[in-house]
Amino acid sequence: MRVLSVVGARPQFVKLAPVASALAAERFEHVIVHTGQHYDAAMSDAFFADLDIPVPTVHLGVGSGSHGVQTGAMLAALGSVLGEHQPDWVLVYGDTNSTLAGAISAVKLQLRIAHLEAGLRSFNRRMPEEHNRILTDHAADLLLAPTRVAMRHLAAEGLAERSVLVGDVMTDICLRVRDAVLDRPPPRPKGHPSGDYVVATIHRAENTDDPDRLRSIVDGLAALPVSVLLLVHPRLAMRCRAFGIPLDRTGTALVPRAPLPYTDLVAAVLDAVGVVTDSGGLQKEAFLLGRPCTTLRRETEWTETLLDGWNVLAPDLENVGHLAARAAPRRPQPIPYGDGHAAEAVVATLVDQASDGGR
Ligand code: UD1
Repeated sequence: MRVLSVVGARPQFVKLAPVASALAAERFEHVIVHTGQHYDAAMSDAFFADLDIPVPTVHLGVGSGSHGVQTGAMLAALGSVLGEHQPDWVLVYGDTNSTLAGAISAVKLQLRIAHLEAGLRSFNRRMPEEHNRILTDHAADLLLAPTRVAMRHLAAEGLAERSVLVGDVMTDICLRVRDAVLDRPPPRPKGHPSGDYVVATIHRAENTDDPDRLRSIVDGLAALPVSVLLLVHPRLAMRCRAFGIPLDRTGTALVPRAPLPYTDLVAAVLDAVGVVTDSGGLQKEAFLLGRPCTTLRRETEWTETLLDGWNVLAPDLENVGHLAARAAPRRPQPIPYGDGHAAEAVVATLVDQASDGGR
């Protein structure tokens, strides 16, 4: 069986890591195509090195641009790559422009598509990711869903027959890295706050594109009662520069730093008292690592994290100071994201549903 993965953005490298190792364990052929959506070393190379992901077979070098330009450039480049490799499965991950481009290219070439992390919905049609997910789910032949909630969404859209519950591959990698970090804690990166702190990330268009909203978020973080290790996504840096919103504010809670490789991120969350974010992945990582999360969004795709107040939505930025410093809930945590072996389930399902029985 030959699988061709299309990835391009940071969270997709995290999802790719356990899938690549599960495919390698079964000695299947795996072609990795990196679209180049994320290209900074800290957003891309650091993840391949840290998570031991094989070097991409093909790098399209597409880079940044408006959604149309970026997705179009990927489409233009992917056709010949997919045509040349003729995989049994084109595997696309999550909800980025790279996901959608991979799905459309495969459809046009009549190649079989599997969508990993299928069925997530925010029901917010203003999010570019929501369109990417829905379009990809409806184009795909096989929908690999991480949760029961995702399975329900797929069924509601008439896609039940193509859907399989495999669990969440981000949980596989998060738990694996957590165990390694607890076993052998890495040195604390230079410049981390010394007392209690929260880890914060902001990058969503809804939070970064409007100057007033972005200013209130950054001002709010700077005024928190604990230190804020703000891991600055390139989009946040760019928007703050453009809107004249300073991030370096000595004497406030804010400690801005470059994005961390995955292992260092897990170590930082374990070291922190909580997380403030608008990232989907980090909400779940906070939950899995047992840290309370405050999400600066109106909705979440990972609704299981809301149980018992592990994750609290704070779209209007009210009470963030109080929320960020809250203690972790006491009740035992539920385990809604699988047993840490989702990637093996993904590979088994691909084999099971390949037209030639997988060999
Ligand atoms: C993308 C995904 C989002 C995901 C996020 C993770 C889409 C529509 N969005 O958003 O779902 O949560 O990745 O990070 O696909 N930039 C750099 N260097 C880089 C990458 C980006 O400087 O390596 C800057 C560029 O100015 C670019 C901007 O960040 O225009 C936004 O990058 P882009 O890939 O378009 O979207 P993200 O905001 O990263």
